[in-house]
Amino acid sequence: MEDDRIISGKSEGFEEVNSELSLRPQYLNQYIGQEKLKNEIAVYIKAAQKREEALDHVLLYGPPGLGKTTLSLVIANELGVNIKTTSGPAIEKPGDLVALLSELNAGDVLFIDEIHRLPKNVEEILYSAMEDYFIDIIVGQDATAHAVHFPLPPFTLIGATTRAGMLSAPLRDRFGIVGHMNYYTEEELTNIVYRSAQVLASEISAKGAHEIARRSRGTPRVANRLLKRVRDFAEVAEKDQIDDEISRYALDLLQVDKVGLDATDRKMLTTMIELYQGGPVGLTTIAANIGEETDTIADMVEPYLLQLGFLKRTPRGRVVTAAGYAHLGLRPSE
Ligand SMILES: Nc1ncnc2c1ncn2[C@@H]1O[C@H](COP(=O)(O)OP(=O)(O)OP(=O)(O)O)[C@@H](O)[C@H]1O
Ligand SMILES: [Mg+2]
Repeated sequence: MEDDRIISGKSEGFEEVNSELSLRPQYLNQYIGQEKLKNEIAVYIKAAQKREEALDHVLLYGPPGLGKTTLSLVIANELGVNIKTTSGPAIEKPGDLVALLSELNAGDVLFIDEIHRLPKNVEEILYSAMEDYFIDIIVGQDATAHAVHFPLPPFTLIGATTRAGMLSAPLRDRFGIVGHMNYYTEEELTNIVYRSAQVLASEISAKGAHEIARRSRGTPRVANRLLKRVRDFAEVAEKDQIDDEISRYALDLLQVDKVGLDATDRKMLTTMIELYQGGPVGLTTIAANIGEETDTIADMVEPYLLQLGFLKRTPRGRVVTAAGYAHLGLRPSE
């Protein structure tokens, strides 16, 4: 079900990965939005370069598709170093981490996506690697067991996660730079849509870009995906540019509404209203009722509904707000 969502922030298969490569900004000045974080990082990069040291470890967190991976690649480019990328679940045992770290040169970046999913025993050896650039591991068994000491070159770990809350305190505390990624404004997304249209060599009008941007739920990945779908419609309709009319037509057809909600979002709200009088109701219960994974709801559905103010968190569960009712053309009952 999740994979059917055109507005899903989640990355898709090989084809999208390939085209994401070309749509990805390479340097900070091409990276649109996240101004505060970008400015901070620019300073830390300059300072590290002046001191000829590795950049401090960076933790990036926020909803899927907001540009965490992209920003990590940009940081490595700006530093002029190599980047090795991997993910938490891909590092199964301490030896895997040692293998990755031993390939790094001084100053290089190791990017670990979904860092909240690192196995505990791997996480523990990461502590000394981050803090003092060494790893001690035990090799052999019983009588032959002995500790081996691996010194490491100074390196920068960039960790990305959609759930900062799921990171253990000792790991979180070892990141000198912590960046919270925010949803993008309509204006920023309009600029992203413009830039991507240029990369794709598609003509787009200002109104067309804005129409796509406002329905992209604050997420660049969604903006790029919607742009590509609208472009298909424009091509088939033999339009010489992507305008607001074809954008509205295509996006209505795709059931992405004016504020970027899709069928799953609306189903969550209507289920809460119809079965639970608008709440409070727990996330697991909602997930079960609409046939989605609780994680999916927590990562991809709820954060944007909260951001729009259609949903509110209370100690007893989630509650649909008056704005949420109004969006569906309903009114809360007494
Ligand atoms: N600031 C930006 N400016 C322009 N394009 C961007 C920006 N951020 C992201 N993008 C585009 O959005 C796409 C998704 O970004 P990215 O893969 O970095 O997200 P992510 O946060 O790592 O997502 P996930 O949590 O799923 O790993 C990229 O391919 C890129 O084209
Ligand atoms: Mg990513």
